[in-house]
Amino acid sequence: MMYFYLLALVLLHSAAGFVTQNASGTLMGKDRCVCEVQLPDSSFPAKKVGFLEDETIRLSNRVEHEMQMIEEQDIRMDLYLENLMNLTKRVENLEKMRPEDLIEFNFELLKKEIKEMEILILELRKKQKGTHVENLDMEVRNISKIVNQLETLDKNSVLKTQREMELLKKRILDCEKNLKNMKPTVPIPLGSCQHHGLARISNPNLLQMNWKGSGYKYGAWGKDAAWNATKKMMYWVAPLNADGRILESVRTYPTLYDLQMYKNQMDLPLITTIKNKVNYTIAGQGSGMVVYNYNLYYNCYNSRDMCRINLSSAFQQRKTIPGAVFNNKYSYSSSSYQDIDFASDEKGLWVLYTTEENSGNIVVGKVNVATLTVNSTWTTTQYKPGVTNAFMICGVLYATRSVSPKQEEVFYMFDTKTGKDGHISIMLEKVTEKVQSLNYNPNDRKLYMYSDGFLTSYDVFMKP
Ligand SMILES: *[C@@H]1O[C@H](CO)[C@@H](O)[C@H](O)[C@H]1NC(C)=O
Ligand SMILES: *[C@@H]1O[C@H](CO)[C@@H](O)[C@H](O)[C@H]1NC(C)=O
Ligand SMILES: *[C@@H]1O[C@H](CO)[C@@H](O)[C@H](O)[C@H]1NC(C)=O
Ligand SMILES: *[C@@H]1O[C@H](CO)[C@@H](O)[C@H](O)[C@H]1NC(C)=O
Ligand SMILES: *[C@@H]1O[C@H](CO)[C@@H](O)[C@H](O)[C@H]1NC(C)=O
Ligand SMILES: *[C@@H]1O[C@H](CO)[C@@H](O)[C@H](O)[C@H]1NC(C)=O
Ligand SMILES: *[C@@H]1O[C@H](CO)[C@@H](O)[C@H](O)[C@H]1NC(C)=O
Repeated sequence: MMYFYLLALVLLHSAAGFVTQNASGTLMGKDRCVCEVQLPDSSFPAKKVGFLEDETIRLSNRVEHEMQMIEEQDIRMDLYLENLMNLTKRVENLEKMRPEDLIEFNFELLKKEIKEMEILILELRKKQKGTHVENLDMEVRNISKIVNQLETLDKNSVLKTQREMELLKKRILDCEKNLKNMKPTVPIPLGSCQHHGLARISNPNLLQMNWKGSGYKYGAWGKDAAWNATKKMMYWVAPLNADGRILESVRTYPTLYDLQMYKNQMDLPLITTIKNKVNYTIAGQGSGMVVYNYNLYYNCYNSRDMCRINLSSAFQQRKTIPGAVFNNKYSYSSSSYQDIDFASDEKGLWVLYTTEENSGNIVVGKVNVATLTVNSTWTTTQYKPGVTNAFMICGVLYATRSVSPKQEEVFYMFDTKTGKDGHISIMLEKVTEKVQSLNYNPNDRKLYMYSDGFLTSYDVFMKP
């Protein structure tokens, strides 16, 4: 978490054009970097903020890594991270500003954001005890203080100590390096499949009820699950009609904050109505959809076809999956009409379905997104209606079953690399009894669950 502090410090200093006159980095304890900063009598607008850009992006990535390692991760953390990314973005924009504009830097906005972070931390403290959070709290308070002081500084005293700023940067880097050397274990980088499979799943992070309400118990939600997705902040929510069958539209939000506030949404309709007659030709069926590379992939209504619709252009395509069973013949145990279920992981897009030839057992298909065809298939021995839901991680299928109203068990796996299957037992807690969809996202190594209308997520931990 201390990276957040460092980042925020760098941001503040660069954004406000403030340069310290004396700074030293020291290592305190085994998990803290502290940089002491003495405020100078005057400040100046720094001319070059640009060189900080790479630095902040890098630090932001580190924060992401750091957060991954923290157990009991809360969805609030995500908001936190997004705020940080937002700040990073604004530093990037600052680079394009003229020096005289820098003087007009908006302190009010910055103060507001810091205030928001303080509130977030307060909430975090309620849920998570420990020095990490306490330090964070203090650090943000300190930053807040510095901002207040900065505001009162003379804006006309200009340019002298660029060099000292470089020094501060170097010290922060040194401090970070030391800390890194002390890390006992290296986390598995996102996107990497250099691990030994699923180890454990966190407690659920309950976000909220879907936007249509509690009557809409079927559906799915998540983020763009393509590893190279460009809109990694975007969230999508796709509640089916109350009949548990038809998907009439998909809703997207630019950020988590918008999702939480139910605002700035965009709805893409999948039905058309002419003279009171609804055309369901490109509507969706079942809760098996995912967003992959800004396209929604789903089972087309009343067919064994895969549908794909571009979320920005609404360009739509469909292709048949040969032999796939559809229309609720072999759906999952607690979700209707999910005969065809899409999944995404580090290796790309997959489709989980079944055929009569395979007697209702799960078939894993690899989707070639260039041609929208199922390129290769693997047949498993796991009866599809015998599982609650399934997802893929690094080319391995994981299937769950319900063991109690409160617990779900990942009990079956199938590795497409070796063609071998096996039984495992990894528990996850549910917020409600039924699970309608479960999707893995390689970009944040999370599972996104739609459970009786509630949107929940889980952090996934792999065996090193
Ligand atoms: C920074 O402060 C320390 C002690 O506060 C002092 O010993 C050192 O000389 C100062 N360095 C500079 C460059 O002013
Ligand atoms: C990002 O910053 C802009 C202002 O530049 C603000 O309008 C927006 O709400 C922020 N987003 C988040 C997620 O904080
Ligand atoms: C915050 O500032 C106080 C004094 O202003 C200092 O004692 C404390 O160590 C600082 N905390 C952090 C985490 O920087
Ligand atoms: C992501 O990868 C797919 C397949 O490799 C490609 O078709 C697509 O254009 C890529 N998207 C971006 C945004 O790079
Ligand atoms: C329904 O929509 C599809 C394409 O979305 C179109 O091809 C078809 O003609 C429409 N059917 C009717 C009855 O309008
Ligand atoms: C989706 O549509 C947009 C706008 O027409 C286009 O730029 C983009 O390449 C399309 N994406 C895919 C993955 O087809
Ligand atoms: C898909 O199948 C075609 C032949 O059917 C093959 O040439 C191609 O390499 C395959 N692509 C992938 C990504 O497996």
